Amino acid sequence: MGLIAIKNGRIVTASDDYQADILVKDGRVETIARQLPLAPDVQSYDAGGLLVLPGGVDVHTHIDWEFGAARTADTFYTASMAAAFGGTTTIIDFCNQPPGRSPLLGLEDWHRRRANASVDVGAHMILLDVNDQALADMKTLIEREGVTSFKLFMAYPGVLMVDDGALFKAMRVAAHKSALICVHAENGPVIKVLADEAVARGDLAPRYHALTRPSLMEGEATHRAIRLAELAGAPLYIVHLSAGEALAAVVEARDQALPIYAETCPHYLFLTREEYERAAFEGAKYVMTPPLRDRSHQERLWRGLKTDDLQVVSTDHCPFCFNEQPYGLKFSKQQGANDFSKIPNGAPGLETRMALLFDGGVGERRMSLNRFVELTATAPAKLFGLFPRKGTIAVGSDADIVLLDPEESWTINASTHHSRVDYSLFEGRRVRGRVKKVFLRGNLIVDGERWHGREGLGQFLARRAFNVPY
Ligand code: URP
Ligand code: ZN
Ligand code: ZN
Repeated sequence: MGLIAIKNGRIVTASDDYQADILVKDGRVETIARQLPLAPDVQSYDAGGLLVLPGGVDVHTHIDWEFGAARTADTFYTASMAAAFGGTTTIIDFCNQPPGRSPLLGLEDWHRRRANASVDVGAHMILLDVNDQALADMKTLIEREGVTSFKLFMAYPGVLMVDDGALFKAMRVAAHKSALICVHAENGPVIKVLADEAVARGDLAPRYHALTRPSLMEGEATHRAIRLAELAGAPLYIVHLSAGEALAAVVEARDQALPIYAETCPHYLFLTREEYERAAFEGAKYVMTPPLRDRSHQERLWRGLKTDDLQVVSTDHCPFCFNEQPYGLKFSKQQGANDFSKIPNGAPGLETRMALLFDGGVGERRMSLNRFVELTATAPAKLFGLFPRKGTIAVGSDADIVLLDPEESWTINASTHHSRVDYSLFEGRRVRGRVKKVFLRGNLIVDGERWHGREGLGQFLARRAFNVPY
């Protein structure tokens, strides 16, 4: 690749905000300077009037992912397009340990599937069976494979859930080897009792998904996970935090200076459980776990973003089509047409994360531009062993750069999206702030509405072990 330059833009990182030009060489930022003199062979892009931001880092996606009887609808290629058009150039995706088998086999399979990605990708390993071999394999994954974070589920008994003993054992290895344990914190067995009772009563509509997953049980599991991590001496990252009770447990732990971190997702910041009241099974589009909550939780989440008790906004992109589409029932919410407990849990979000948070966060004056960059790129890159290669614009960093027009308004509409999923949680929502150009390691992959990425352009990101980020 030749030299490229991005001129006249306003560069915003988590800490800086200034006007300068960027010279990119061999996919990395070579020079940042005012009025950079350019040789004739440099391909130059004018960023006048635009924000120049680090490419987004989304650390929570489920792409081409087996989930019980269902499979998510995106391939790594279609998900990459959705990510890139939304301003995200790095994804960390979840890879399953095959039940009863080595996590290393799961990683091999994941590498085959991720080969057509056109943004950069890393992997977290989901541990489903924490036996002695899996514990030994954790060390191999950390030391040899660049997989330095592990997800364990306290929910979904019989599908993904592990018990507290297994979670604790994995945490001890993580503590010893400097890995980060990510936990889905909901009390699975209690939720199962409530869901089974609802089904037995004939309460089968999507609204019962939310009614059988109380916020109290997210708070309880979050508290329990924190205590287990404390005993193990392990850092802990709570994924997709949705509830005030869960946030309270995180705040308490952070006040004790424990290394506890948490993310939330745009749907918890902008939507409420009223969505489950939609007619004609439409509520199924919003069936994800944890479920949408009421507005009082939302206010607490925004506060957590302000006080840095929540450090990351990720998507939990877990796309199932609403209608069957050509891909089949396996990929569709229609599996649960007659029973909410069979609706595949998960929703799309990769393409809209940055726009929603820019509009609803920066635009609504809930956060500064620097904080927006920190939440969507810098903090996730730091927590997951990618900084400063990813998550900032600095000399030596990968030239993953987004040019964003802060004034342009547009309407979110699934028909213009690049994911294979056939709906958006935010259909018809008007937002201000639009991604105009995206560079991945200096390659222009998005130019307005044009796609210039290609299958396989994305690189695998072997990540460093966990290090206290700040
Ligand atoms: O509903 C969700 N969140 N589906 C994806 C699996 C998970 O729990 O992250
Ligand atoms: Zn989860
Ligand atoms: Zn998830």
